[in-house]
Amino acid sequence: MEAHPGITVRPSRDQDVEDMLAIYRHHIRRGIEEGVEDGDTPDPDDLRERRKNLRTRRYPHLVAIIDGRVVGYAYVVLFRKRPAYRYAVKHSIYVHHDQLGRGIGRALLGELIDTCAAAGFRQMIGYVDADNAASLGLHDAFGFKRVAHLPAVAWRYGRWADSVMVQRSLGPGSTAPPPPLPLSR
Ligand SMILES: CC(C)(COP(=O)(O)OP(=O)(O)OC[C@H]1O[C@@H](n2cnc3c(N)ncnc32)[C@H](O)[C@@H]1OP(=O)(O)O)[C@@H](O)C(=O)NCCC(=O)NCCS
Repeated sequence: MEAHPGITVRPSRDQDVEDMLAIYRHHIRRGIEEGVEDGDTPDPDDLRERRKNLRTRRYPHLVAIIDGRVVGYAYVVLFRKRPAYRYAVKHSIYVHHDQLGRGIGRALLGELIDTCAAAGFRQMIGYVDADNAASLGLHDAFGFKRVAHLPAVAWRYGRWADSVMVQRSLGPGSTAPPPPLPLSR
């Protein structure tokens, strides 16, 4: 599919929550049908609350818009909660299932990287299913290194599935000490 010329990326808002949930639910539906229990599906209030917390603490939470419609979202949380890890974030990215391959993932991930770098984070980490060619390709395109292969960490579709941990540095990365970020944000 052709990349869409009119993609806008901006911070998420309260009124985007239902659209983000619809995108998320579609991507996990198959897992549920296969009998995977999804205790993790947020309800709208959860997501609204979580999104507010992230924004208050300055963790980027972005949506992609085409023709006024939310077509994808991406956000980060801290990689680990202990203070020493406060310069490392873990990200997630989801694009609407009927809008794949139009450059939305690229627009979101590019903006997420820039926003996280500007906020002073130095490392960005993601976990990708080993058979998720689209996500692995997208991360390769942004210079993420495949730093670990985690065998058999998920039970899906009746078999054990592997994950790949991907990582890239942000801004000056490890070449300079970090700016004085507060110990807890
Ligand atoms: C992974 C995902 C975010 C990619 O978003 P997308 O909008 O379809 O991707 P884009 O159109 O922006 O593609 C950007 C780049 O990613 C790579 N890519 C995208 N789809 C690909 C595919 N099917 N196979 C291989 N590489 C692919 C390519 O490098 C592509 O660049 P190119 O078009 O110049 O070749 C999307 O497929 C998605 O939401 N999947 C379901 C949820 C998910 O798996 N999230 C990631 C969890 S880690």
